[in-house]
Amino acid sequence: MSVYYEHIPVMLEECMDGLITDANGIYIDGTLGGGGHTHELLSRLGQKATVFGVDQDDQAIAAASARIGDDHRFKILKGNFGYLSTLLPPQFIGQVSGILLDLGVSTHQLKEAERGFSFQQEGPLDMRMGGFTGLTAYEVVNSYDYERLRDIIFHYGEEKASRKIAQAIIAARPIETTQELSAVIREVVVPKFQIKSLARVFQGIRIEVNQELEVLKQVLEQSIQILAPNGRLVVMSYHSLEDRLVKQMMKNGNFEGRLEKDFYGNPVRPLKPIYRQVITPNEEEVERNPAARSAKLRIAEKIGGPDS
Ligand SMILES: C[S@@+](CC[C@H](N)C(=O)[O-])C[C@H]1O[C@@H](n2cnc3c(N)ncnc32)[C@H](O)[C@@H]1O
Repeated sequence: MSVYYEHIPVMLEECMDGLITDANGIYIDGTLGGGGHTHELLSRLGQKATVFGVDQDDQAIAAASARIGDDHRFKILKGNFGYLSTLLPPQFIGQVSGILLDLGVSTHQLKEAERGFSFQQEGPLDMRMGGFTGLTAYEVVNSYDYERLRDIIFHYGEEKASRKIAQAIIAARPIETTQELSAVIREVVVPKFQIKSLARVFQGIRIEVNQELEVLKQVLEQSIQILAPNGRLVVMSYHSLEDRLVKQMMKNGNFEGRLEKDFYGNPVRPLKPIYRQVITPNEEEVERNPAARSAKLRIAEKIGGPDS
């Protein structure tokens, strides 16, 4: 394993404030990463608390374990959070005080050249966050048809020059490495916006490789069963499509914006947003940690407790 670069936890204070309702409760950090949020969470919880740390990435688990050390309250669950309800031992379903999700990749993953996430370093076209099975960036780049590639670049990458870039990729096949892909993109985008375009295309491919929107939908749906009444769901996203899913789920309990009603016509919602507005990092945090700049934090509470 190469050098471990520390990931700076984003909106740490805001996440902790939103998450903790019971100092001796059961918590899940669904995106353990370098363990930044979990480390702080443990420091604020009592001796009877339990914190499950989930990650699909062995390197993240190793880094977080080293940071947290020996703590009887901390338990690792290795796997994809899209299967959270099966990763979690069944006796904890419906008992959890808070679930935290800090989506996307960690600084650690971005800086590991051989993972293929970075457009700045030479590496294989991989981009898989967990395990070594499943779709790779190589397959997306070298085998998707024009329409699919264009749509991924446009929707997941939010890159306007998606048509030109998809055409250039197809014309340059086979593309073997991250730097070859970067060179193809550089050729067709305006020099002034090159870095942004590169970041967007790589992000789009990464979202496709890891099926990030699908697994997010799965975990958001499962969180309702996993949380105890009045338990908190705290989600930090870095992409407008993710934030939209989180917002819809917290507001209506589904992704379509459908308001369910009971027999008497009263709205039935499984979750209640804690704040009306999305929370974003302040200027000082963005200056200290530019990776935080696009973060959007939303917090909701599961309805069903005596106070709801
Ligand atoms: C932004 S980092 C989390 C950083 C962490 N909060 C910290 O402060 O150190 C996101 C982490 O979530 C993991 N991750 C992303 N999607 C996942 C998924 N579907 N299942 C499990 N882990 C996932 C990534 O491997 C990465 O380590």
